[in-house]
Amino acid sequence: MANAVPPMVSGGMPVLGHVVEMLRDRDGLFKRGYAEHGDLFSIKLASQMVAVITGAEHNRLFYTETDKTLNMQDGYAFLKASIGEVLFTSSPEDYYNQRPLLQEIFKRERMVGYVEAMNVEVQRWLDSLGDSGEIDITKEMLRLTQYVAGRAFIGSRYAEELGEGFWQEYTAISASLDFVLPPNLPLPKFIRRDRAKQKITATLTKIIEERRQHPDQYDDLITILLTTPLKDGTFLPDEMIVTLFMGLIFAGHETTAGQAAWLIALLLQHPDTLARVQTEIDQHVVQHIDGHVLRSLEHIYWAIDETTRLRPSADTQIRTLEAPLQFGAYEIPAGWRVMVSGATSHYLPETFADPEQFDPLRYSPERAEGKNPFAIIGFGGGVHKCTGMNFAKNEMAVITALLFQQFDVELLSRDIHVVSGNGANHPSEVRVYYKRRARTDAANHAYAVGSVE
Ligand code: HEM
Repeated sequence: MANAVPPMVSGGMPVLGHVVEMLRDRDGLFKRGYAEHGDLFSIKLASQMVAVITGAEHNRLFYTETDKTLNMQDGYAFLKASIGEVLFTSSPEDYYNQRPLLQEIFKRERMVGYVEAMNVEVQRWLDSLGDSGEIDITKEMLRLTQYVAGRAFIGSRYAEELGEGFWQEYTAISASLDFVLPPNLPLPKFIRRDRAKQKITATLTKIIEERRQHPDQYDDLITILLTTPLKDGTFLPDEMIVTLFMGLIFAGHETTAGQAAWLIALLLQHPDTLARVQTEIDQHVVQHIDGHVLRSLEHIYWAIDETTRLRPSADTQIRTLEAPLQFGAYEIPAGWRVMVSGATSHYLPETFADPEQFDPLRYSPERAEGKNPFAIIGFGGGVHKCTGMNFAKNEMAVITALLFQQFDVELLSRDIHVVSGNGANHPSEVRVYYKRRARTDAANHAYAVGSVE
């Protein structure tokens, strides 16, 4: 048995194998594979063999072998044509050379400024809602996370500097992502992508030039990229600064928007949890939110973790094997791909009691479920674990805290389901009715403080 390859899940079609099902219902395919064969099985995507793994121990091997026997870039090849070669889409040598930039961008001291940007943008969004109305949270989160990223990374003049069309251009690039077609075919979406890239490059080049001319006036992402040396002592060339900026937006934007929308939807679907969250907010959120307040919002952070488990934006990650690797009883051959699977790992009853239930209290100290860092794969693991995770979690916490502090919200959508996007999964429409809550004097004061720029 030692050298056997993992058994294949049922239902493959001639030639295409599991391609169609993979595109239509990845969750269903992975759950069936697990039911048939357990924590290691294979699927066939046309001529490509893929091993799908489940459970913290297999996941640990996946993440610790990344950049060794497991190659990460191949899985992100589809990103190179749209965004370029940087960080996790480039070679391990380039990645480790560029890593000091990630450490500088996400170092703890910078989070204070990022949280401030979150406060300002979330409050601006809430102020724009009026006293009552109906909105689709899924759409709203997409826009809100753009504004937060703009303010956090470019500064308070981001709207003027990035310009009206920036996010439309970005959307054209994101919509061009294609896992199947060669990226240089003369298709309308690829032509739009190339035009959008040119425009974005021109915009960012201007911003870089401005920072270079007046370095003392800025302390933003672009300044960090201009002034932080790489591991080899050199600096990132301008064209790579554009690519890295785009890579960060790709990694952080749709992922956070989707997860934030699911978080609000799940809270509205679970009144008991929402009541605990509401009590916590009413107790702690009187002034605008800083690190101290964030640390007191434990029910919100448990709900965020539970959303990552049940509705991950990034429900799978993929690598290519460069040499044979033993996973449990099976040896996976070189050339195969390996995938981690939230659809199965996140539902193991030995790790998560009653795993189908939305139950944020499972992360409370008394229960402490899912403590193993490889049990939940929604933010990845190991060296490449999401460097923006705290940014994303804090952003979701600020959104939730300020929204429910200021509004009563009622869920109108009944059938909310997962939509697989290009960059990340997100919920279908989350239509809500909202009504402004009566303000206390303290809260009135807080709104005024929070709104001031
Ligand atoms: C809920 C929101 C987010 C989710 C679900 C998410 C998910 C992930 C996952 C799964 C990975 C690992 C990919 C792999 O191993 O193949 C990753 C990496 C990464 N994420 Fe996030 N992410 C989120 C938000 C963000 C934000 C807000 C940023 C930045 C602003 C960001 C920046 C990055 C970067 C730079 C990496 C690559 C790290 C490396 O290769 O060392 N992410 N993210």
